[in-house]
Amino acid sequence: MPAEPSKTIAIACDHGGPELKSILAEDLKSAGFDVLDLGTNGPDSVDYPDYAYALAHAIKDGKATRGVLICGSSIGICMAANRFPEIRAAQIHDALGARLCREHNDANVIAFGARVIGPETARDCLKVFLNTEFEGGRHQGRVDKLSNPS
Ligand code: RB5
Repeated sequence: MPAEPSKTIAIACDHGGPELKSILAEDLKSAGFDVLDLGTNGPDSVDYPDYAYALAHAIKDGKATRGVLICGSSIGICMAANRFPEIRAAQIHDALGARLCREHNDANVIAFGARVIGPETARDCLKVFLNTEFEGGRHQGRVDKLSNPS
């Protein structure tokens, strides 16, 4: 994962995701990224919006450039993150989605469901996500509209 090695990636999960979070955080560190780990770190039940909001604030405040979110399904934590206009979070299940969410949507957060994706697929998706550039062009205006709903 050579892209943006000087940048910080934030990572957070609810109680569905600590194991996958550890695996992905290790990959990020091995690739030279600084990792801002916002928890949770154990099996005790927590509320996924709290972790999505912590990660969204980290990106909004410039403490991280991109983020990784994990819950059981990826659904709730992705919904919560996308309530922030600064966040474009994508639920990703395969490498094609990981590529397209960057090329077309300039996604800055990737969301995984630890109960629906295997760790090797998630690792592969994260690598693609971090190494794919936004295409801009015809996609730019559409992405701009995401931050300005009306
Ligand atoms: C927690 O049990 C589960 O609901 C949560 O991880 C997530 O899947 C919600 O969308």
